[in-house]
Amino acid sequence: MVINEPDYFKLLTNKISKLSGIILDSYRDKYLKRRIELRMKVVGIVDYKEYARFLEKDENELKTLMDTLTINVTEFMRDKDPFEYFRDKLAVDIIERKQKSQSKLVRFWSAGCSCGEEPYSIGMCAREVFPEDWSISVYATDIDEKCLKTASEGVYCKDKLKKLDYNLKSKYFDKTENDYKIKNTNKLSYRFKRHDLTNDPPISKHLDTVFCRNVMIYFNENQKVKMITKFHEGLIKGGFLVIGKSETLPNEIRHLFEPVSLKNKVYMKV
Ligand SMILES: C[S@@+](CC[C@H](N)C(=O)[O-])C[C@H]1O[C@@H](n2cnc3c(N)ncnc32)[C@H](O)[C@@H]1O
Repeated sequence: MVINEPDYFKLLTNKISKLSGIILDSYRDKYLKRRIELRMKVVGIVDYKEYARFLEKDENELKTLMDTLTINVTEFMRDKDPFEYFRDKLAVDIIERKQKSQSKLVRFWSAGCSCGEEPYSIGMCAREVFPEDWSISVYATDIDEKCLKTASEGVYCKDKLKKLDYNLKSKYFDKTENDYKIKNTNKLSYRFKRHDLTNDPPISKHLDTVFCRNVMIYFNENQKVKMITKFHEGLIKGGFLVIGKSETLPNEIRHLFEPVSLKNKVYMKV
């Protein structure tokens, strides 16, 4: 049984936000309680105050708790439109620019990649449109290590693939008895890495497009500004930023980007 008092619970969630840098206001209390109490049970602590002290001392527990709390809902081609827009419009623009600079290397970043469905979707769309002899590099980062492990294994149940055309499924996956496993594809590489969007520097300084979708919901305005400033730093001039359907750029940094498609939430670094 957990010894709780509402005030102590609030103090505990404040402490978690302070230690992790992740604002938990967007999560419902009931959800937070369920997840936090699950961890408390595992470590044998029954009161919020003591668990707060434990988190302060034990970095590993803080990491495990954050893995338990962050929601990783995703699927291949989630909200299909931005991927089609990327394939049909953005890629054409990127190809033209690269040809001018005689480069045959493109770099994308899926920031907050969850269990890999987004970066693999980016990789497949890109491989379909960029010339065969061009190298495509997809950086895929998340704060959740368990998700990253799943991502790098690249094995998914058929439900996750329901928005993928038959062609893409057969070209990019090997079908196993129960699942689908990502195949190696020529000149298409993925780099999975733990990265905290609230603290760490941009993953590269030569990015053609950053996808950061359905992640900002976790952050306050200040953290959003910091994170998007880092994307700006990581993108090449004229590079694109794609955010989630229900997300908006904070006013403070709007001057750094020009809207390209408001419908698809695509912006260009100016
Ligand atoms: C809802 S998923 C979005 C996945 C994918 N981008 C999509 O739109 O389908 C949100 C992801 O953001 C990650 N996340 C939350 N806070 C983060 C942080 N501070 N740094 C990096 N990733 C974070 C979570 O672990 C989770 O995998």
